[in-house]
Amino acid sequence: MKERQYTSVLEKIEMIVPDDSDLISALSNISAIINEEFGFLWCGFYLVKGDSLSLGPFQGHPACSRIPYGKGVCGKTWQSGETIIVPDVEMFEGYIACSSIAKSEIVVPIFNGGNVFGVIDVDSEIFSKFDQIDSVYLEKIASIVSNLINNKVCNNYL
Ligand code: SME
Repeated sequence: MKERQYTSVLEKIEMIVPDDSDLISALSNISAIINEEFGFLWCGFYLVKGDSLSLGPFQGHPACSRIPYGKGVCGKTWQSGETIIVPDVEMFEGYIACSSIAKSEIVVPIFNGGNVFGVIDVDSEIFSKFDQIDSVYLEKIASIVSNLINNKVCNNYL
């Protein structure tokens, strides 16, 4: 079921987000496509700017504008360069709460060459919402964003 939903998300991204899309346009549409399919509590992007992550396009409640390197789930994903799945946010040391409703979270790194460029962050109001299927497909979405960056079509942002 979830695989089918993610396959639909990937198809829509291919249809709606052209290879020469502006980065902000692409990330806005990708977060909207994920939200439309799953209705997660929050989904969106944080992008590396200097020594912190800066809030990018998202769908959901207002969220923290900046997250320092190594802080919270997002900052730790940046630091480790690996996807982090959090089944219960209260058990994650240093978790940054942008909403009291969030119970579980997944954060996936986006690479530009060997460096983390940003992260995809998804929150749920349900405990243990995310598993390996989410990480596999969200990492595919992160690769699509990496390709856009590597195509240098997004250089108005870079
Ligand atoms: N919970 C995140 C902060 C971002 S919000 O979930 C949108 C974290 O700990 O990094």
